[in-house]
Amino acid sequence: MTFPDGLTRILDLAPAVPIAQAGESFWLPPPDSTTAGSVDNLFYFILWVAVFFFSLVVALMVLFVILYRRRPGGSPGGAPTHNTPLEIAWTVIPLAIVVIIFYRGFTGYMEMRLPRREAYEIDVVARKWSWQFTYPNGYSDPILHVPAGQPVRLIMRSEDLIHSLSIPDFRVKMDLVPGRYTKTWFHANKDALGPHDLYCTEYCGTGHSDMTTQVIVHELTEFKQWLERAAEGEAAMGPAERGRKLYVVHGCAGCHSVDGSAKTGPSFKGIWTQTHRFANAPPAVVDENYIRESIVDPSAKIREGYEDKMNSYQGTFSDEEIGFLIKFIQSSK
Ligand code: CUA
Repeated sequence: MTFPDGLTRILDLAPAVPIAQAGESFWLPPPDSTTAGSVDNLFYFILWVAVFFFSLVVALMVLFVILYRRRPGGSPGGAPTHNTPLEIAWTVIPLAIVVIIFYRGFTGYMEMRLPRREAYEIDVVARKWSWQFTYPNGYSDPILHVPAGQPVRLIMRSEDLIHSLSIPDFRVKMDLVPGRYTKTWFHANKDALGPHDLYCTEYCGTGHSDMTTQVIVHELTEFKQWLERAAEGEAAMGPAERGRKLYVVHGCAGCHSVDGSAKTGPSFKGIWTQTHRFANAPPAVVDENYIRESIVDPSAKIREGYEDKMNSYQGTFSDEEIGFLIKFIQSSK
């Protein structure tokens, strides 16, 4: 959709009036992406319009209360009928303001929604309760690493319920919905190098508040080096180490500790060769088959004292990866 040229020119001018400078402030985090400026400007525009009219209405109300209070000997005047200039003013002025807000909001929204074809693509998976970012070379990481000064597109899906990815410094927020792909993009400014917060902003259960990670913005060459080294490092890992990596990246750590502390699920510390008791099955020894079953069919044996809360990871992990996880649990002493 396009607006007539003349109208566009007028509307572009209107809220450019710098009511407040976009920047780190009491209200907002630093504007570290190319779209942050338009979000902030619109926010400040609406904020100050609201402050202005609130003050105007309250001030006039107080003034009229004092000016037209009941006085001894006074008589009530006639009821007001109408005042054409006043009525035109209070129709046209708000209309103009609302059109400006709509135009600014609509163009800003389209800018944020329309995908950039030349963008660097990263796949995102959200699950209870972790983030997994997969790069074009197949490497996965629980932290989002991105190059500065270039558009990055996120292709996102959820494995269980609705999560929402939020990066406040980039003014990015997009839901991840099970059974479909959602997309968003951002362009981190060249001077936004370093870590930024990334978290889930849709209440998704007991681990929601732990569903936090970081975006790390690198210079382009540094980013390429990081990605190469990370992929090489992974290839050189032993089986237990690769199991630990899967444990972190796939969010097992959200429910299972390795230090013996209690979370939603039992800890992995020292369980290898232990005999466990279950709410729905005879006791069993923790071995390869028990761990495999607990990954692909978690409801088969519900550990005493815990609830049947885990989703099946059948299809998420290959047999090879289940092997790595077994080695990792075996090594968690
Ligand atoms: Cu995921 Cu809240």
